[in-house]
Amino acid sequence: MPKISHKGSLMPESPIRKLVPFAESAKKRGVKVFQLNIGQPDIETPKHALDAVKNNNIKVLSYSRSEGSEEYRTKLSKYYSSKNIEVDADQIIVTSGASEALLFTFGSIMDKDDEIIVPEPFYANYNGFSIANGLKIIPVISKIEDNFSLPNIEKFEELITSKTKAILICNPNNPTGYLYSKKEIKKLVQIVKKHDLFLIADEVYREFTYDEDFHYSIMEEESISENAIMIDSVSKRYSMCGARIGCVVTKNKEVKNTILKFAQARLSPPTYAQIASEAAIDTPDSYFEIVNNKYIKRRNILIAELNKISNVKVASPKGAFYCIVELPVKNTNDFAKWMLDKFHINNETVMVAPAEGFYSTNGLGLNQIRIAYVLKEEDLIKAVNIIKLALEKYTD
Ligand SMILES: Cc1ncc(COP(=O)(O)O)c(C=O)c1O
Repeated sequence: MPKISHKGSLMPESPIRKLVPFAESAKKRGVKVFQLNIGQPDIETPKHALDAVKNNNIKVLSYSRSEGSEEYRTKLSKYYSSKNIEVDADQIIVTSGASEALLFTFGSIMDKDDEIIVPEPFYANYNGFSIANGLKIIPVISKIEDNFSLPNIEKFEELITSKTKAILICNPNNPTGYLYSKKEIKKLVQIVKKHDLFLIADEVYREFTYDEDFHYSIMEEESISENAIMIDSVSKRYSMCGARIGCVVTKNKEVKNTILKFAQARLSPPTYAQIASEAAIDTPDSYFEIVNNKYIKRRNILIAELNKISNVKVASPKGAFYCIVELPVKNTNDFAKWMLDKFHINNETVMVAPAEGFYSTNGLGLNQIRIAYVLKEEDLIKAVNIIKLALEKYTD
């Protein structure tokens, strides 16, 4: 039989999706599964975005430009300006989600065996995107005890080698919910300038910041305009995960032109979804106030309920809608499977994402899970109670 590629065999399963077959069979047995595993918001997509597609009388559903439609990119640059990010339409390349934006970026700036430094735990698919490009993730460990703040500069500098091409952060962070401060971003700016590296920031959760903290973009740092590459998406901002629209933003012409060649090879991003995304930009601020208030309430309830369980440790997320939770079990892969397979309370159980896949350091995250607080408050309370009872019953 012909053999698959070596890198194909190395591709990891998504920790967010790998337990789906267990959840499906629980559902078939009539068990209700509270899904805390995936960042699929239950928030309604703004109606005007959906209507823009419904009310369109396109006669030929044609390709768009490879870099995305001019109208959409022009409107996006105005949206960014409202966020203190001054970029022109021609510094934006529209992609099929932030996922494709990351793939194109990695492919454009790094070669096989190059290294990319990423604070760990990190969005699990960074592992897959790196393997697909033959890259090596060099993790810089952030800890639950420090609420997952950035380690000091020396820790980064210790990891820089002749192979290092970039530092990648996710801000606010998935899976930790950590929001990097302006001071921390400035630290990174210093490092990438000193060592001539790219700084990639995945800012898909920009709108989701809570309390008195604000998001500070790497694009606000003029001194690194040649180093900075921002990744973005409409998936979470407007609850439009199925649109599959994201973008890469950079002022570095060479990077942009290289990404454009990758974009040309896949022809264009989806046309209808760009129409919906363009309309979504008109979403009023009041929408985000309502949505964020919902997430703040959910976060507060979730953290308070988790803190009531003995031997459970949880950090305080300041943004996005995730948190990492440390459980008194040896292996959360087994625990999460067991909850779906063998455990229920009144025919209800919970699906969580085992956190191991959000690390690249072997052995880390084995006693942690990631929870996405994308369910309504009463369901979150029920779900945490199920986890509490499950922990009482479970034996490693
Ligand atoms: C941090 C982060 N980056 C990128 C993505 C991928 O987003 P998209 O749906 O735009 O491909 C996600 C999706 O959950 C994410 O959490």
